[in-house]
Amino acid sequence: MIALGSDHGGYALKTEIIRHLEARGLEYKDFGTYSEASCDYPVFGKAAARAVASGECDRGILVCGTGIGISISANKIKGIRCALCGDCFSAAATREHNDANMLALGARVVGPGLALKIVDTFLDTPFSNDQRHIRRINMLEEE
Ligand code: RB5
Repeated sequence: MIALGSDHGGYALKTEIIRHLEARGLEYKDFGTYSEASCDYPVFGKAAARAVASGECDRGILVCGTGIGISISANKIKGIRCALCGDCFSAAATREHNDANMLALGARVVGPGLALKIVDTFLDTPFSNDQRHIRRINMLEEE
């Protein structure tokens, strides 16, 4: 199950991502927002992040105008490793190295074609399971 969240700036791209996930036969849960009316990205970034952190969802995808605000919001939730990606190399690397459990996209930064390639790369790339990466990921939760 993939948790989705966006603000108004990311709503249109999130709708395209939903169509893409449906075409791939992947299940998702949309934590809002549900229109292009102006709203506050932390509400939706944190709601989707809580669902990933609790195990209700396996991964999450977030979208706002830049991807920045909503990724910062998600990363405030313990256990979340949300990576803002604007290219496929970063999306693959953050899965392999950081075991990122959430992806953030900037709808005003990347076009829909690239965004869907980034989504696929994020969803289809496994974690490397390398000891050095596991050690570093464990260090992320330390104060
Ligand atoms: C909304 O205008 C915009 O600030 C938001 O989508 C995002 O880019 C914030 O980081």
